Amino acid sequence: MTLLSVSDVTHRYPITVSEIPVLNRVNLEVEEGSVVAVVGESGCGKTSLGRVIVGLVRPLEGEVRYEGKDIWDLSKKEHAAYRRAVQVVHQDPYASLNPGLTVEETLKTGLLYHHIVTRRTARSELFRLLESVGLEATPAFLRRYPHQLSGGQRQRLVIARTMGLRPRLVVADEAVSMLDVSMRVAVLDLLLSMRSELNLAYVFISHDFGVVRYFARGGRIVVMFFGVVVEEGPAEQLIRHPRHPYTFLLLDAVPVPDPKVARRRRTEATKVAAERVTGEPSATGCVFSNRCPYAEDKCRVDTPPLVDSGPQHGHRVACWFPDKVPDLQAVLGASAEGRAMPEGAVLSGR
Ligand SMILES: Nc1ncnc2c1ncn2[C@@H]1O[C@H](COP(=O)(O)OP(=O)(O)OP(=O)(O)O)[C@@H](O)[C@H]1O
Ligand SMILES: [Mg+2]
Repeated sequence: MTLLSVSDVTHRYPITVSEIPVLNRVNLEVEEGSVVAVVGESGCGKTSLGRVIVGLVRPLEGEVRYEGKDIWDLSKKEHAAYRRAVQVVHQDPYASLNPGLTVEETLKTGLLYHHIVTRRTARSELFRLLESVGLEATPAFLRRYPHQLSGGQRQRLVIARTMGLRPRLVVADEAVSMLDVSMRVAVLDLLLSMRSELNLAYVFISHDFGVVRYFARGGRIVVMFFGVVVEEGPAEQLIRHPRHPYTFLLLDAVPVPDPKVARRRRTEATKVAAERVTGEPSATGCVFSNRCPYAEDKCRVDTPPLVDSGPQHGHRVACWFPDKVPDLQAVLGASAEGRAMPEGAVLSGR
């Protein structure tokens, strides 16, 4: 069942210098219990999309529906249910914690507010939550303040607070970017384990394809370039056979631990691509055309629609010439399979 859908959402902020919308006719569907990962470079609108999904930003055009209902058109009761069911985990755990509240108060506030526990039953639920995120379930820990926790502990506390509300959808916006590299996989695994436990869906936002590849296994990946979804599809399919030049470049930028593969990658097709790593988004035609190594005149004039591409259902690309994109498998060779989850790539920061 579709839990949440974003239909034809376009947004510009009131004060903006760019003529490119922050979100440009974005469509996205989140099925119950599924993972949709959104990837793209800094400033491409990922956080804005997340804020639209959780109802913090009302888009100028288009609709966001939760369980089929427009989130800006909910009754008071439905709105309260939506506010509880759709939660967000931010990049900076310190900023999302109130420094004046202890661990106990941090966790308890939401639980009481949403009537999930009573004052009498709160304690045991707090211990259960702490344990579920791998934090110390002791009275002494409940008395600590955020500044007395490590970055990893803070993010676990934020996750405990979120999961305590038993959400159905969590928007995780760069949830591990501020964590020490050594902590990232642990927190990603924690989020994934919560997913199966609570039948939770994620919109997982990251600029790091290594992290996205790890998290989105079995789910879907949406690639954004300056407000536009340029490619979208089942994670494995999109990673193995990217059809959009931008996706190709992003994937190609993920570090490869094998030096032989890294060397091969520097040759042939990728050489072309490497020449064009910068370039402003284009306001006319294809948004990527200024940066695209394969752009032709048509690309600068006509905007390519997001349409089905290739044999696999649900793999869509917005490109006039997807066949020009080199076959990533051929570039990477046999060891590409082994890259599904190499530590080096998963842990790569930027
Ligand atoms: N409240 C706002 N008012 C005006 N412009 C904004 C506002 N919030 C974001 N923007 C602009 O919208 C664009 C998209 O920003 P957004 O934060 O959604 O990108 P992002 O993909 O999340 O980037 P990052 O990877 O750096 O977090 C940027 O150009 C940003 O400057
Ligand atoms: Mg952001």
